[in-house]
Amino acid sequence: MARLVRDVADFPTAGIVFKDITPLLADPDGLRAVVAGLADAGRDDDGRPAVDKVVGMEARGFILGAPVALELGVGFVPVRKAGKLPGETHAVAYALEYGDAVLEIHCDAVAAGERVLVIDDVLATGGTARATADLVAACGGTVAGMAFLMELSFLPGRATVGDVAVTALSVV
Ligand code: PRP
Repeated sequence: MARLVRDVADFPTAGIVFKDITPLLADPDGLRAVVAGLADAGRDDDGRPAVDKVVGMEARGFILGAPVALELGVGFVPVRKAGKLPGETHAVAYALEYGDAVLEIHCDAVAAGERVLVIDDVLATGGTARATADLVAACGGTVAGMAFLMELSFLPGRATVGDVAVTALSVV
């Protein structure tokens, strides 16, 4: 499936090699395999769903996270960039590989004690994933695991997210 992710040099800024997943999204067999692989991170040893919610980050975490939630038979929760969610939100500021930003979650999106699987396309610096874990915690939920299509091993994503189970379908 790594062959379906296209490297784009100097996007969105000079020096960044962007991982473009649109070829993967356009390939039904590849997309199905990726969704199934990501969903496995939310199952127990007997293959049963072990989470109450899937949380995906804007924007590509939405595309992958929603079908993973359906595969697991649980609800999907969007984590969005600042100012996009209409209800009461928790907010966390974070540093991106290319800039700073704020992520938000609806306060009532994850109930206290719920277990969550976090889904995104790429784990790079880990700033987005860490902020998302902090948002889940602010709701009273627990991050049971995080699963990514791709991990950039030359960046400190795993260290940034800390003590949480991380699954990457492909490591570059
Ligand atoms: C990209 C990617 C991850 C995040 C990974 O999203 O989809 O969400 O960066 O980087 P990090 O591990 O260094 O935080 P981006 O912020 O570009 O948002 P987009 O999907 O809306 O373009």
